[in-house]
Amino acid sequence: MLKNGHRIKKIGILTSGGDGPGMNAAIRSVVRCALNNGLEADGIMRGYAGLIDGDIVAMNHRSVSNIVNRGGTILKTARSKEFATVEGREKAALILRSRGIDALVVIGGDGSYRGAARLYEEHGFPAIGLPGTIDNDIHGTDETIGCHTAVNTALEAMDKIRDTAHSMERIFIIEVMGNRSGYIAVEVALGAGAEDVIVPERGFDYQLMGERIREGYKNGKISYMIVVAEGAAKAGEVAGKVTAMTGLETRSVVLGHIQRGGIPTGQDRILATRLGAAAVNLLLDGQYGKAVGMVRDDIQVTDLKDATSKEYVHLDEFIRLVQMLT
Ligand code: F6P
Repeated sequence: MLKNGHRIKKIGILTSGGDGPGMNAAIRSVVRCALNNGLEADGIMRGYAGLIDGDIVAMNHRSVSNIVNRGGTILKTARSKEFATVEGREKAALILRSRGIDALVVIGGDGSYRGAARLYEEHGFPAIGLPGTIDNDIHGTDETIGCHTAVNTALEAMDKIRDTAHSMERIFIIEVMGNRSGYIAVEVALGAGAEDVIVPERGFDYQLMGERIREGYKNGKISYMIVVAEGAAKAGEVAGKVTAMTGLETRSVVLGHIQRGGIPTGQDRILATRLGAAAVNLLLDGQYGKAVGMVRDDIQVTDLKDATSKEYVHLDEFIRLVQMLT
């Protein structure tokens, strides 16, 4: 018997929302930790949508072989409108219980966390959240699974853009992912040596940007890279404004979903693996309704309901630094 009198025999695991590199490493860790502790593990396909459809498969050690280094998620993922409703969650709880699943590990972003928190509150269903999103915008963790790889992927693209921008003496506006989060934008702008950055969390003075560009050209600068998060503005529109203000030749690039794919970095794999193991340990310890994160390289446990979205802690510092280093 575990602490609270319940005995967990079978863990269900799902990935939900936008995928991120490293999710597979987390799945592997949860499944193998569960099996090695004498529990069973079921994989739930396509997130909460697949859960409601009863799309569930038993997993063994071999189900998670050769995935630690693979991007995407072998369980597939989705955003479910139905699970956002009381009725949808009722259906999901029924399915979980009818399949003999005693606890659920959810890998996803803040929307997925909210779903898991409600499942726990409304149905007392033991749920644990693992932060999986490239946006790095979840409370209770310094980094989310996938964010590190996404930044590196975007940086690689930026380095290539720099070559042509400099050779053809042009201004480039590069749109990166992040509907509500400027995390990727500021990291990439700083890492790639961009001249400016526009994020959804802050207003932006386009007039001032125009003046800075004109001033730079007067001082011999021949190319510019400006990073914009997709939730702040569209790259094409920013390019139009820049041309109108400066008369200079401008191009726009949308990096898009390449940022969500690819081989996870070592950092993402290790983070995912440690968080996966911690999730199983929490369940074995009878701690439910929790989110597992990593703060200063130590496992941090937060109540799921508190682990909602957060602003990147270095946002203002990085914006200032990007503009100062121009
Ligand atoms: O998962 C987060 C994210 O990648 C955001 O950065 C982005 O704004 C959004 O998902 C894009 O969603 P979709 O893949 O549905 O277009």
